[in-house]
Amino acid sequence: MSFPHDAAAESVFPRDAVEAVTHPDPYPFYRQLRQERPLFFDTRLGLWVASSHAAVSAALVHPALRVRPPAEPVPRALQGGAAGEVFAQLVRMTDGDFHAVHKPGVARAARRWALADVARAAEDAARDLRPRLPVNEFTAALPVQTMARLLGVPEGQREATCRWAAQFTQGIAPGADAQAVALANAAAAALMAQGRAQGLSAVQAANRIGFMQQALDAGSGLLGHVALHLTQDAQQAAAADASPEAMCALVREVERCAAPIQNTRRFAAEALTLRGQPIAAGQALLLVLASANRDETLNTQPDRFHVHREGGRSVGFGAGLHACPGAAIAVEMVAACALWMRAAGQFDAYFGRCIGFRPLPNARIPVFEQ
Ligand code: HEM
Repeated sequence: MSFPHDAAAESVFPRDAVEAVTHPDPYPFYRQLRQERPLFFDTRLGLWVASSHAAVSAALVHPALRVRPPAEPVPRALQGGAAGEVFAQLVRMTDGDFHAVHKPGVARAARRWALADVARAAEDAARDLRPRLPVNEFTAALPVQTMARLLGVPEGQREATCRWAAQFTQGIAPGADAQAVALANAAAAALMAQGRAQGLSAVQAANRIGFMQQALDAGSGLLGHVALHLTQDAQQAAAADASPEAMCALVREVERCAAPIQNTRRFAAEALTLRGQPIAAGQALLLVLASANRDETLNTQPDRFHVHREGGRSVGFGAGLHACPGAAIAVEMVAACALWMRAAGQFDAYFGRCIGFRPLPNARIPVFEQ
Protein backbone atom coordinates (compact mmCIF):
# COMPACT_ATOMS: atom_id res chain seq x y z
CA MET A 1 0.00 0.00 0.00
CA SER A 2 1.54 3.31 -0.98
CA PHE A 3 0.15 6.79 -0.83
CA PRO A 4 1.54 8.50 -3.90
CA HIS A 5 1.41 12.25 -4.04
CA ASP A 6 4.59 12.96 -5.98
CA ALA A 7 5.39 10.44 -8.70
CA ALA A 8 8.89 11.84 -9.34
CA ALA A 9 9.93 11.71 -5.69
CA GLU A 10 8.40 8.29 -5.34
CA SER A 11 10.57 6.81 -8.07
CA VAL A 12 13.80 7.86 -6.27
CA PHE A 13 14.85 5.59 -3.42
CA PRO A 14 15.51 7.22 -0.05
CA ARG A 15 19.21 7.41 0.84
CA ASP A 16 18.81 5.44 4.03
CA ALA A 17 16.31 3.81 6.35
CA VAL A 18 15.76 7.02 8.33
CA GLU A 19 14.98 9.04 5.22
CA ALA A 20 12.63 6.20 4.26
CA VAL A 21 10.30 7.06 7.15
CA THR A 22 9.07 10.19 5.37
CA HIS A 23 9.52 8.96 1.79
CA PRO A 24 6.35 8.79 -0.36
CA ASP A 25 6.77 5.01 -0.74
CA PRO A 26 9.60 3.38 1.23
CA TYR A 27 8.52 -0.21 0.61
CA PRO A 28 10.47 -0.96 -2.64
CA PHE A 29 13.59 0.35 -0.85
CA TYR A 30 12.91 -1.86 2.16
CA ARG A 31 12.41 -4.84 -0.17
CA GLN A 32 15.80 -4.20 -1.79
CA LEU A 33 17.43 -3.96 1.64
CA ARG A 34 15.89 -7.28 2.71
CA GLN A 35 17.01 -8.99 -0.48
CA GLU A 36 20.51 -7.57 -0.74
CA ARG A 37 21.70 -6.69 2.77
CA PRO A 38 19.20 -7.66 5.47
CA LEU A 39 21.69 -6.67 8.18
CA PHE A 40 24.48 -4.25 7.29
CA PHE A 41 26.46 -1.36 8.72
CA ASP A 42 25.25 1.88 7.16
CA THR A 43 28.19 4.29 7.17
CA ARG A 44 25.93 7.27 6.40
CA LEU A 45 23.86 6.65 9.52
CA GLY A 46 26.71 5.21 11.57
CA LEU A 47 24.66 2.23 12.70
CA TRP A 48 23.60 -1.26 11.72
CA VAL A 49 20.34 -1.55 9.80
CA ALA A 50 18.23 -4.71 10.18
CA SER A 51 15.39 -5.04 7.67
CA SER A 52 14.49 -8.73 7.36
CA HIS A 53 12.09 -10.50 9.69
CA ALA A 54 14.92 -12.82 10.77
CA ALA A 55 17.35 -9.99 11.62
CA VAL A 56 14.76 -7.73 13.27
CA SER A 57 13.25 -10.52 15.35
CA ALA A 58 16.66 -11.85 16.42
CA ALA A 59 17.66 -8.36 17.53
CA LEU A 60 14.41 -7.78 19.45
CA VAL A 61 15.06 -10.82 21.65
CA HIS A 62 18.86 -10.63 21.96
CA PRO A 63 19.80 -10.15 25.63
CA ALA A 64 22.87 -8.00 24.84
CA LEU A 65 20.87 -5.54 22.72
CA ARG A 66 19.49 -2.81 24.96
CA VAL A 67 17.05 0.05 24.50
CA ARG A 68 19.64 2.61 25.64
CA PRO A 69 23.41 2.97 25.17
CA PRO A 70 24.82 1.36 28.35
CA ALA A 71 27.13 4.37 28.87
CA GLU A 72 24.23 6.83 28.75
CA PRO A 73 21.05 5.35 30.25
CA VAL A 74 19.54 8.84 30.39
CA PRO A 75 20.35 11.27 27.54
CA ARG A 76 22.95 13.80 28.68
CA ALA A 77 20.69 16.76 27.96
CA LEU A 78 18.05 15.38 30.35
CA GLN A 79 20.32 14.44 33.24
CA GLY A 80 19.57 16.30 36.46
CA GLY A 81 16.13 17.50 35.35
CA ALA A 82 12.59 16.28 36.04
CA ALA A 83 12.27 14.89 32.49
CA GLY A 84 15.44 12.83 33.04
CA GLU A 85 14.04 11.50 36.30
CA VAL A 86 10.89 10.31 34.50
CA PHE A 87 12.93 8.93 31.60
CA ALA A 88 15.03 6.81 33.98
CA GLN A 89 11.86 5.12 35.29
CA LEU A 90 10.13 4.33 31.99
CA VAL A 91 9.96 0.64 31.16
CA ARG A 92 10.34 1.69 27.51
CA MET A 93 13.78 3.13 28.29
CA THR A 94 15.19 0.59 30.75
CA ASP A 95 16.46 -2.99 30.70
CA GLY A 96 17.63 -5.57 33.20
CA ASP A 97 16.30 -5.86 36.73
CA PHE A 98 14.46 -2.53 36.75
CA HIS A 99 12.55 -3.47 33.61
CA ALA A 100 11.87 -7.02 34.81
CA VAL A 101 10.46 -5.77 38.12
CA HIS A 102 8.26 -3.01 36.72
CA LYS A 103 7.08 -4.18 33.27
CA PRO A 104 4.45 -6.59 34.69
CA GLY A 105 2.83 -3.74 36.65
CA VAL A 106 2.82 -1.48 33.59
CA ALA A 107 1.31 -4.25 31.46
CA ARG A 108 -1.34 -4.87 34.16
CA ALA A 109 -2.13 -1.16 34.22
CA ALA A 110 -2.72 -1.24 30.45
CA ARG A 111 -4.99 -4.30 30.79
CA ARG A 112 -7.25 -2.67 33.39
CA TRP A 113 -9.41 -1.03 30.72
CA ALA A 114 -12.10 -3.02 28.95
CA LEU A 115 -12.06 -2.40 25.22
CA ALA A 116 -15.56 -0.92 25.54
CA ASP A 117 -14.08 1.75 27.86
CA VAL A 118 -11.39 2.48 25.31
CA ALA A 119 -13.98 2.82 22.52
CA ARG A 120 -16.09 5.16 24.67
CA ALA A 121 -13.08 7.33 25.52
CA ALA A 122 -12.03 7.53 21.84
CA GLU A 123 -15.56 8.45 20.70
CA ASP A 124 -15.84 11.07 23.41
CA ALA A 125 -12.49 12.56 22.40
CA ALA A 126 -13.47 12.55 18.70
CA ARG A 127 -16.83 14.20 19.47
CA ASP A 128 -15.05 16.93 21.44
CA LEU A 129 -12.12 17.56 19.05
CA ARG A 130 -13.59 17.08 15.58
CA PRO A 131 -15.64 20.31 15.50
CA ARG A 132 -12.86 22.52 16.82
CA LEU A 133 -9.62 21.24 15.28
CA PRO A 134 -8.22 21.15 11.75
CA VAL A 135 -7.31 17.67 10.60
CA ASN A 136 -3.59 17.53 11.48
CA GLU A 137 -4.18 18.92 14.96
CA PHE A 138 -6.97 16.40 15.32
CA THR A 139 -4.81 13.36 14.50
CA ALA A 140 -2.13 14.73 16.85
CA ALA A 141 -4.58 15.22 19.73
CA LEU A 142 -6.93 12.25 19.51
CA PRO A 143 -4.68 9.50 20.98
CA VAL A 144 -3.39 11.51 23.93
CA GLN A 145 -6.87 12.91 24.64
CA THR A 146 -8.20 9.34 24.65
CA MET A 147 -5.45 8.22 27.04
CA ALA A 148 -6.08 11.20 29.33
CA ARG A 149 -9.75 10.19 29.57
CA LEU A 150 -8.81 6.58 30.34
CA LEU A 151 -6.34 7.77 32.97
CA GLY A 152 -9.11 9.70 34.73
CA VAL A 153 -7.78 13.21 34.12
CA PRO A 154 -10.63 15.60 35.04
CA GLU A 155 -12.10 17.57 32.15
CA GLY A 156 -10.73 20.88 33.41
CA GLN A 157 -7.15 19.55 33.42
CA ARG A 158 -7.25 17.68 30.12
CA GLU A 159 -5.95 20.34 27.76
CA ALA A 160 -2.99 21.15 30.03
CA THR A 161 -2.27 17.46 30.62
CA CYS A 162 -2.18 16.68 26.91
CA ARG A 163 0.00 19.73 26.26
CA TRP A 164 2.43 18.57 28.96
CA ALA A 165 2.51 15.06 27.49
CA ALA A 166 3.38 16.52 24.07
CA GLN A 167 6.04 18.80 25.58
CA PHE A 168 7.56 15.89 27.46
CA THR A 169 7.63 13.80 24.27
CA GLN A 170 9.23 16.57 22.21
CA GLY A 171 11.81 17.41 24.88
CA ILE A 172 13.07 13.84 25.31
CA ALA A 173 13.47 13.31 21.55
CA PRO A 174 17.09 13.12 20.36
CA GLY A 175 18.32 16.54 19.22
CA ALA A 176 15.75 18.53 21.20
CA ASP A 177 17.01 22.08 21.87
CA ALA A 178 17.45 23.68 25.31
CA GLN A 179 14.04 25.32 25.19
CA ALA A 180 12.31 22.01 24.38
CA VAL A 181 14.20 20.33 27.25
CA ALA A 182 13.17 23.13 29.64
CA LEU A 183 9.51 22.71 28.62
CA ALA A 184 9.84 18.92 29.04
CA ASN A 185 11.23 19.41 32.56
CA ALA A 186 8.33 21.64 33.57
CA ALA A 187 5.84 19.26 31.94
CA ALA A 188 7.39 16.22 33.66
CA ALA A 189 7.19 17.93 37.06
CA ALA A 190 3.52 18.84 36.53
CA LEU A 191 2.57 15.37 35.30
CA MET A 192 4.44 13.64 38.12
CA ALA A 193 2.63 15.81 40.66
CA GLN A 194 -0.66 14.85 39.03
CA GLY A 195 0.15 11.13 39.19
CA ARG A 196 1.41 11.30 42.77
CA ALA A 197 -1.81 13.12 43.77
CA GLN A 198 -3.69 10.06 42.44
CA GLY A 199 -1.75 7.97 44.96
CA LEU A 200 0.68 6.43 42.47
CA SER A 201 4.28 5.54 43.30
CA ALA A 202 7.03 7.43 41.45
CA VAL A 203 7.50 4.54 39.00
CA GLN A 204 3.76 4.26 38.40
CA ALA A 205 3.45 8.02 37.91
CA ALA A 206 6.36 8.02 35.44
CA ASN A 207 4.89 5.15 33.41
CA ARG A 208 1.50 6.85 33.46
CA ILE A 209 3.27 9.65 31.56
CA GLY A 210 4.81 6.91 29.39
CA PHE A 211 1.31 5.75 28.40
CA MET A 212 0.45 9.18 27.04
CA GLN A 213 3.86 9.59 25.42
CA GLN A 214 3.73 6.18 23.69
CA ALA A 215 0.18 6.79 22.47
CA LEU A 216 0.98 10.21 21.01
CA ASP A 217 2.97 9.74 17.81
CA ALA A 218 2.24 6.06 17.27
CA GLY A 219 -1.51 6.61 17.68
CA SER A 220 -1.49 9.66 15.38
CA GLY A 221 0.36 7.65 12.76
CA LEU A 222 -2.05 4.74 12.94
CA LEU A 223 -5.09 7.01 12.80
CA GLY A 224 -3.63 8.88 9.82
CA HIS A 225 -2.89 5.69 7.88
CA VAL A 226 -6.32 4.27 8.61
CA ALA A 227 -7.93 7.50 7.40
CA LEU A 228 -5.84 7.37 4.22
CA HIS A 229 -6.90 3.83 3.57
CA LEU A 230 -10.58 4.50 4.20
CA THR A 231 -10.64 7.57 1.95
CA GLN A 232 -8.83 5.73 -0.85
CA ASP A 233 -10.86 2.53 -0.93
CA ALA A 234 -14.61 3.09 -0.78
CA GLN A 235 -15.41 -0.61 -1.00
CA GLN A 236 -13.21 -1.58 1.92
CA ALA A 237 -14.43 1.44 3.84
CA ALA A 238 -18.03 0.32 3.41
CA ALA A 239 -17.12 -3.17 4.64
CA ALA A 240 -15.30 -1.73 7.67
CA ASP A 241 -18.29 0.48 8.52
CA ALA A 242 -20.39 -2.66 9.04
CA SER A 243 -19.21 -3.40 12.60
CA PRO A 244 -16.57 -2.59 15.22
CA GLU A 245 -14.98 -6.00 14.54
CA ALA A 246 -14.72 -5.25 10.81
CA MET A 247 -13.14 -1.85 11.50
CA CYS A 248 -10.69 -3.39 14.00
CA ALA A 249 -9.66 -5.98 11.40
CA LEU A 250 -8.96 -3.19 8.90
CA VAL A 251 -6.97 -1.21 11.48
CA ARG A 252 -4.84 -4.29 12.24
CA GLU A 253 -4.04 -4.83 8.56
CA VAL A 254 -3.20 -1.14 8.10
CA GLU A 255 -0.85 -1.42 11.07
CA ARG A 256 0.86 -4.46 9.52
CA CYS A 257 1.07 -2.92 6.06
CA ALA A 258 1.95 0.68 7.00
CA ALA A 259 3.55 0.37 10.44
CA PRO A 260 3.28 3.80 12.11
CA ILE A 261 6.46 3.12 14.12
CA GLN A 262 8.69 2.29 11.16
CA ASN A 263 11.80 1.60 13.19
CA THR A 264 13.19 1.32 16.68
CA ARG A 265 16.76 1.28 18.02
CA ARG A 266 18.96 -1.02 20.04
CA PHE A 267 22.49 -0.67 21.47
CA ALA A 268 25.04 -3.44 21.97
CA ALA A 269 26.00 -3.78 25.64
CA GLU A 270 28.81 -6.16 24.63
CA ALA A 271 30.31 -7.59 21.44
CA LEU A 272 27.97 -10.09 19.82
CA THR A 273 27.24 -11.90 16.57
CA LEU A 274 23.83 -11.39 15.00
CA ARG A 275 22.87 -13.40 11.91
CA GLY A 276 26.57 -13.98 11.26
CA GLN A 277 27.52 -10.28 11.55
CA PRO A 278 29.97 -9.13 14.22
CA ILE A 279 28.54 -6.22 16.21
CA ALA A 280 30.94 -4.32 18.46
CA ALA A 281 30.11 -3.21 22.00
CA GLY A 282 28.52 0.24 21.93
CA GLN A 283 27.31 0.05 18.31
CA ALA A 284 23.72 0.97 17.53
CA LEU A 285 21.16 -0.88 15.42
CA LEU A 286 18.12 0.42 13.58
CA LEU A 287 15.44 -2.28 13.45
CA VAL A 288 13.10 -1.57 10.54
CA LEU A 289 9.83 -2.99 11.87
CA ALA A 290 7.90 -1.76 8.83
CA SER A 291 10.17 -3.76 6.55
CA ALA A 292 10.01 -6.94 8.63
CA ASN A 293 6.20 -6.82 8.35
CA ARG A 294 6.56 -6.99 4.54
CA ASP A 295 8.92 -10.00 4.64
CA GLU A 296 7.57 -13.16 2.96
CA THR A 297 8.86 -15.21 5.87
CA LEU A 298 6.55 -13.32 8.23
CA ASN A 299 3.48 -12.94 6.02
CA THR A 300 2.41 -14.55 2.76
CA GLN A 301 1.88 -12.04 -0.06
CA PRO A 302 3.10 -9.35 2.30
CA ASP A 303 2.58 -6.41 -0.10
CA ARG A 304 -1.07 -7.26 -0.56
CA PHE A 305 -3.55 -5.41 1.65
CA HIS A 306 -5.80 -8.20 2.83
CA VAL A 307 -8.10 -7.51 5.79
CA HIS A 308 -9.02 -11.16 6.23
CA ARG A 309 -5.58 -12.65 5.76
CA GLU A 310 -5.00 -15.94 7.55
CA GLY A 311 -2.50 -15.69 10.39
CA GLY A 312 -1.32 -12.17 9.63
CA ARG A 313 1.66 -11.27 11.82
CA SER A 314 3.18 -7.93 12.75
CA VAL A 315 6.21 -6.73 14.68
CA GLY A 316 4.85 -3.19 14.45
CA PHE A 317 4.16 -3.22 18.19
CA GLY A 318 7.59 -4.67 18.94
CA ALA A 319 8.30 -8.16 20.30
CA GLY A 320 10.15 -9.78 23.17
CA LEU A 321 10.59 -8.16 26.57
CA HIS A 322 9.83 -4.65 25.27
CA ALA A 323 6.67 -5.60 23.34
CA CYS A 324 4.02 -2.88 23.48
CA PRO A 325 1.44 -3.46 26.22
CA GLY A 326 -0.92 -0.96 24.53
CA ALA A 327 -1.45 -2.70 21.18
CA ALA A 328 -5.08 -3.68 21.82
CA ILE A 329 -5.82 -0.20 23.17
CA ALA A 330 -4.28 1.42 20.10
CA VAL A 331 -6.31 -0.67 17.65
CA GLU A 332 -9.58 -0.19 19.54
CA MET A 333 -9.01 3.55 19.96
CA VAL A 334 -8.36 4.14 16.26
CA ALA A 335 -11.20 1.85 15.14
CA ALA A 336 -13.73 3.50 17.46
CA CYS A 337 -12.63 6.96 16.39
CA ALA A 338 -12.86 6.07 12.69
CA LEU A 339 -16.29 4.48 13.08
CA TRP A 340 -17.66 7.45 14.98
CA MET A 341 -16.23 9.95 12.49
CA ARG A 342 -17.53 8.07 9.47
CA ALA A 343 -21.01 7.86 10.98
CA ALA A 344 -20.85 11.60 11.77
CA GLY A 345 -20.23 12.34 8.06
CA GLN A 346 -17.79 14.44 5.98
CA PHE A 347 -15.01 11.91 6.67
CA ASP A 348 -13.40 12.01 3.20
CA ALA A 349 -13.64 15.80 2.96
CA TYR A 350 -12.10 16.26 6.42
CA PHE A 351 -9.06 14.06 5.76
CA GLY A 352 -8.52 15.13 2.16
CA ARG A 353 -5.18 14.62 0.41
CA CYS A 354 -1.98 13.38 2.04
CA ILE A 355 0.76 15.93 1.33
CA GLY A 356 3.64 14.27 3.17
CA PHE A 357 4.73 12.97 6.55
CA ARG A 358 5.79 14.68 9.75
CA PRO A 359 9.59 15.06 9.83
CA LEU A 360 10.37 12.34 12.37
CA PRO A 361 13.11 9.67 12.31
CA ASN A 362 10.94 6.75 13.47
CA ALA A 363 7.18 7.46 13.29
CA ARG A 364 5.47 7.78 9.90
CA ILE A 365 2.60 10.22 10.45
CA PRO A 366 0.63 11.41 7.42
CA VAL A 367 0.12 15.15 7.02
CA PHE A 368 -3.13 16.10 5.31
CA GLU A 369 -3.90 19.15 3.23
CA GLN A 370 -6.08 21.48 5.32
C1 HEM B 1 -0.53 2.72 17.15
C2 HEM B 1 -0.21 2.79 18.39
C3 HEM B 1 1.03 2.16 18.97
C4 HEM B 1 2.11 1.59 18.35
C5 HEM B 1 2.35 1.39 16.86
C6 HEM B 1 3.03 1.20 19.39
C7 HEM B 1 4.24 0.59 19.16
C8 HEM B 1 5.14 0.24 20.14
C9 HEM B 1 6.41 -0.40 19.89
C10 HEM B 1 7.00 -0.73 18.53
C11 HEM B 1 6.99 -0.61 21.09
C12 HEM B 1 8.32 -1.33 21.34
C13 HEM B 1 9.47 -0.40 21.25
C14 HEM B 1 10.76 -1.15 21.30
O1 HEM B 1 10.81 -2.34 21.65
O2 HEM B 1 11.80 -0.54 20.98
C15 HEM B 1 6.10 -0.09 22.10
C16 HEM B 1 6.36 -0.11 23.43
C17 HEM B 1 5.50 0.41 24.37
N1 HEM B 1 4.23 0.88 24.15
FE1 HEM B 1 3.30 1.08 22.40
N2 HEM B 1 2.49 1.52 20.61
C18 HEM B 1 1.27 2.11 20.39
C19 HEM B 1 0.39 2.55 21.33
C20 HEM B 1 0.57 2.44 22.66
C21 HEM B 1 -0.40 2.84 23.67
C22 HEM B 1 -1.81 3.38 23.40
C23 HEM B 1 0.18 2.64 24.88
C24 HEM B 1 -0.41 2.89 26.22
C25 HEM B 1 -1.20 2.11 26.84
C26 HEM B 1 1.51 2.09 24.65
C27 HEM B 1 2.42 1.76 25.62
C28 HEM B 1 3.69 1.26 25.38
C29 HEM B 1 4.68 1.02 26.43
C30 HEM B 1 4.52 1.30 27.92
C31 HEM B 1 5.81 0.48 25.79
C32 HEM B 1 7.13 0.09 26.45
C33 HEM B 1 7.14 -1.39 26.76
C34 HEM B 1 8.50 -1.86 27.20
O3 HEM B 1 9.50 -1.26 26.80
O4 HEM B 1 8.58 -2.84 27.94
N3 HEM B 1 1.70 1.98 23.30
N4 HEM B 1 4.97 0.40 21.49
